[in-house]
Amino acid sequence: MSIDRINDLALHNRALAGALHAAAGRVIDSGWYALGPEVAAFEQAFAAYCGAAHVIGVANGTDALELALRAVGVQAGDEVFTVANAGFYASTAIRAIGAVPVYADIQPHNLLLDPQDAAQRISKKTRALIVTHLFGQLADMAPLQALVNAHGIALVEDCAQAHGAQRNGQRAGSFGDVAAFSFFPTKNLGALGDGGAVVTRRDDVAARVRSLRQYGWTSKYTVADSGARNSRLDELQAALLSVKLPHLDGWNSRRRAIAARYAEGITHPLITVPAIAGEDHVAHLYVIRSAQRDSLKLHLQQHGIGCDIHYPVLDYRQPAVAAAHAGVTLPASERVVAEILTLPCYPELELAEVDAIAACINRWSP
Ligand SMILES: Cc1ncc(COP(=O)(O)O)c(C=O)c1O
Repeated sequence: MSIDRINDLALHNRALAGALHAAAGRVIDSGWYALGPEVAAFEQAFAAYCGAAHVIGVANGTDALELALRAVGVQAGDEVFTVANAGFYASTAIRAIGAVPVYADIQPHNLLLDPQDAAQRISKKTRALIVTHLFGQLADMAPLQALVNAHGIALVEDCAQAHGAQRNGQRAGSFGDVAAFSFFPTKNLGALGDGGAVVTRRDDVAARVRSLRQYGWTSKYTVADSGARNSRLDELQAALLSVKLPHLDGWNSRRRAIAARYAEGITHPLITVPAIAGEDHVAHLYVIRSAQRDSLKLHLQQHGIGCDIHYPVLDYRQPAVAAAHAGVTLPASERVVAEILTLPCYPELELAEVDAIAACINRWSP
């Protein structure tokens, strides 16, 4: 039983060990290690999977967010909407440009950005809105699209936790102007190291990101774009991701089955379980809520069950930036951050293990 942690990456990758070793060997023998044919092949396959015209492989998900923002025209001093409960990744990207994060509150039922709250905070300086499909839940895109259209701002999807989520056949990453993916090893589609991608239907945005990920080159050694960096995806990671991509939908179904089993099994009156029903949720993280979260966390730890908090500190309360956001208060975000607890949820988790975790939770008395 490996329920003492919230995921088990060795177990996850073991099932594909033969194919992963073969792919790694092919890259080692090829003599081509960054931005080559393996990256191009993966970009093409992932574009087809997402239903987007372009995928541009980059070094990680945070770079993907930053380059996506730059490519839609965000500059120093511009304001960018994000939520405060999604781990500071968007804030890092916004701040790297010298832009200003403006935090919108979340909807208590799904913990995602509240379009009405964002609408009240819009200003002349607002340039973009980042929607994070947090925990694997595809946001309701229609109100967000209406908001950005009404104000002429860009819509950026953070899909780091939502690979493959879809609604009416449309996948995460194909709704906004541009989207950012992370392939960190724990993600639903994870590399064996860092990796990321920018996904877009817009030719102009794709061309800009291709230049921004490699020094601002328009051709070799000619730098035409400022604000660029080195953020290339490795051939090795691309080859490994190509092995794993065909399995993504199966893994996502399995995650949903685990979520359904938890929802059935957890009957404790002081706990709320998340609503994970259709394919618009890929159960990246299974996050329950309780007003007495810390007691529940201790109970699970005492019984050898892995759990974690995603995320324990709201962005505007992080020590590095708290002084700059001293006036910010978001009631729903602040209530929820004290209630959330992440349980083990990964494709290889056995249903008997889920049952054991649920039974242990039901025995909790705070
Ligand atoms: C919601 C979200 N956005 C962005 C990122 C950043 O991705 P990376 O760690 O690859 O930089 C992550 C994951 O780490 C994430 O969970």
